[in-house]
Amino acid sequence: MLAFSEACERNKGPILEVLRSALASSRSVLEIGSGTGQHAVHFAAALPHLSWQPSELAGQLAPLAERIRLEGAPNLLAPIALNVREHPWPVEAVDAVFSANTLHIIPWSAVRDFFRGVGEALGRSGLLCVYGPFRYQGEYTSDSNAEFDRWLKARDPVSGIRDFEALDELARAAGLVLAADHAMPANNRTLVWQRLPGGA
Ligand SMILES: C[S@@+](CC[C@H](N)C(=O)[O-])C[C@H]1O[C@@H](n2cnc3c(N)ncnc32)[C@H](O)[C@@H]1O
Repeated sequence: MLAFSEACERNKGPILEVLRSALASSRSVLEIGSGTGQHAVHFAAALPHLSWQPSELAGQLAPLAERIRLEGAPNLLAPIALNVREHPWPVEAVDAVFSANTLHIIPWSAVRDFFRGVGEALGRSGLLCVYGPFRYQGEYTSDSNAEFDRWLKARDPVSGIRDFEALDELARAAGLVLAADHAMPANNRTLVWQRLPGGA
């Protein structure tokens, strides 16, 4: 049986509506930490103008590849092994990078690597879309997010909900500027950064 995430089933519709407009002018998307592949399958089928490249840690690749083989549309590429800690990432330049619910899982040093990798992978007019829970000005956006953060840290002390301002600083250092911050169901957000005009 294929790996399955209830959360993906709930959030894939609302995320798609953001991506539909954010990625309207993009042609190629790299997804980081594709997990079960439910997002990749849903988004690639609904956005046929995109070439969607899923990726995962090498050890998590097999179930992802199986879902994509069984359910993937023609514009959904076979997944590649990608650990954000690698340098450089084993990818060609892309128009956009998407990642859902990864930045609170990986350690902060890997979050830094994520933004460095994104900065290098994006072309001159690239976009970064990140879905998940975030803190703003040191505050949680809900009690349930505070509770989730306690749960994450009890499970793995180097994980945790990230501060938007710290992520935005890393994005700026990678040549990206915030273009949109969408409120999503269940106190999540979709953050969209874009390459600064004239950026590398
Ligand atoms: C909470 S899951 C989210 C999966 C999927 N994006 C979703 O929304 O359901 C976090 C994902 O990050 C991946 N991951 C963890 N460390 C990673 C790393 N260093 N580089 C790339 N992906 C990583 C995990 O394998 C896992 O699939």
